[in-house]
Amino acid sequence: MVTSFQGVIPLAYVDPIRIVVWNSRWNSPCHCLVVSTSIFLRGFLVVRRKTSQSLVVSNNPPESPYAPGFGFTPPYLAGRDAVLAQIKRALDQGPRSPWYIHGISGDRGVGKTSLLNAIEVHAAKAGWSVVSLQVVPGEPQIHTLARDLVSAATSTWGKAAAFLKDIDIELTVGVDLKVAKAEAKLSGKPGVGKPPSIVLRDILIAVGSYAKDQGGGVLITIDEAHEWNTAGEIAALASALQLVVKRKNFPIAVYFAGLLNLSTVFEGAGTFLERMGIEELHVLTPESTRLALIEPATEKGIRFDREAVDLLIAGCEGYPYLVQLAGNFSWQEMNGSVIDLAAATKGLAKARIEVEKLYSDRWEKLTVLERAYVHSVARLGEDPTTSDVAKSLKRTQQQLGTTRDALINEHRLLRATQRGHISLALPGFGSWVTAQPRVRTSAPARVKKAK
Ligand SMILES: Nc1ncnc2c1ncn2[C@@H]1O[C@H](COP(=O)(O)OP(=O)(O)OP(=O)(O)O)[C@@H](O)[C@H]1O
Ligand SMILES: [Mg+2]
Repeated sequence: MVTSFQGVIPLAYVDPIRIVVWNSRWNSPCHCLVVSTSIFLRGFLVVRRKTSQSLVVSNNPPESPYAPGFGFTPPYLAGRDAVLAQIKRALDQGPRSPWYIHGISGDRGVGKTSLLNAIEVHAAKAGWSVVSLQVVPGEPQIHTLARDLVSAATSTWGKAAAFLKDIDIELTVGVDLKVAKAEAKLSGKPGVGKPPSIVLRDILIAVGSYAKDQGGGVLITIDEAHEWNTAGEIAALASALQLVVKRKNFPIAVYFAGLLNLSTVFEGAGTFLERMGIEELHVLTPESTRLALIEPATEKGIRFDREAVDLLIAGCEGYPYLVQLAGNFSWQEMNGSVIDLAAATKGLAKARIEVEKLYSDRWEKLTVLERAYVHSVARLGEDPTTSDVAKSLKRTQQQLGTTRDALINEHRLLRATQRGHISLALPGFGSWVTAQPRVRTSAPARVKKAK
């Protein structure tokens, strides 16, 4: 029985003599909060002053906990326990673990950035210095990485500032660090002074050795890494990491996240990054979807009816972005402190409209031939071959080469899954596309037969 309380209480129900509140801790109604003079609206009781005598009531429901948006950390990171545990173990084990430098790949909106965020939170809590980089296509990254490493190290370890403060002019790794003296010039502009790989190597040695002395580490996350195309930079990073992490064993862990073609970025670099493990993230299982929906609500004292949650699980097909949208819209439709079937039905419909906007925005940007290509991939089912797609469009693969490349690299709607196979990169897009009218293309140019 609550005798003294202050805060927001969701009501399970009200009868003439009792108010029954939802106890989120035990996930069950908690009886017998008797109030003599009060008003209660929309299922919420807000106790403004700590008292058992008079309760002041407002009708503000708690804010939705869901996070529908790319790069928005979900309130409950569902279905990623195994991979997160693996990474946490690697951070404990040190540079020899194969998970210490690792890739994370997956389709759009499947939760790569959210996982990186979770790793960062874990590392920061353990006192590590954290650097997060998001690759911008065509822009050099090494200089940004070098600069961010210095500023993250100095803000994590106050004393590091003393030896890193002149890094913009000159980096000297000296006596304090008990490592060989190394010098590098970082002029403030990329490409000037020493080669980036040398500057980066020396900075990594400096912060890595400092971190080791502190009993901590440095975490580098590189998001959208499939976009990294600035010549020579990956090789520069790889050679620096090879020396500093693999050979000298300094505690610098690196995680790359990107679309499913992530591994191609490292191809031909001739380095250990080519053989780096890449974990593919998939859509959420029904059970993980259930947790992603229910856990944040329970935290706030709100519950789902069973049919409501079942409807959302079936409707979201495990697509994390849609799960957050559906949770959010259902929340807005809730009845008292319960998300019932009616609320979930409306919520899911609104969420679908939102996702379809995303699909149609992408669709609008395509040429007729690109649409026909995507339509054909969607129609042919999982993982068709490019030659089947070409046949269905009555063209040769060569004639469709530019179209396919644009859909992979520019629009990011397709991905090459294995040699000669292709599939859609955006979860749920296939069923939306097949519901669109079939695209008619003009007659293909005739291919001259070789004599
Ligand atoms: N494990 C999860 N459980 C619940 N919700 C999740 C999970 N992972 C991601 N989400 C939600 O899904 C949405 C997309 O997540 P995120 O931005 O991390 O995806 P992404 O793979 O990085 O997308 P992109 O390819 O566009 O960069 C966000 O709203 C996020 O809160
Ligand atoms: Mg992302």
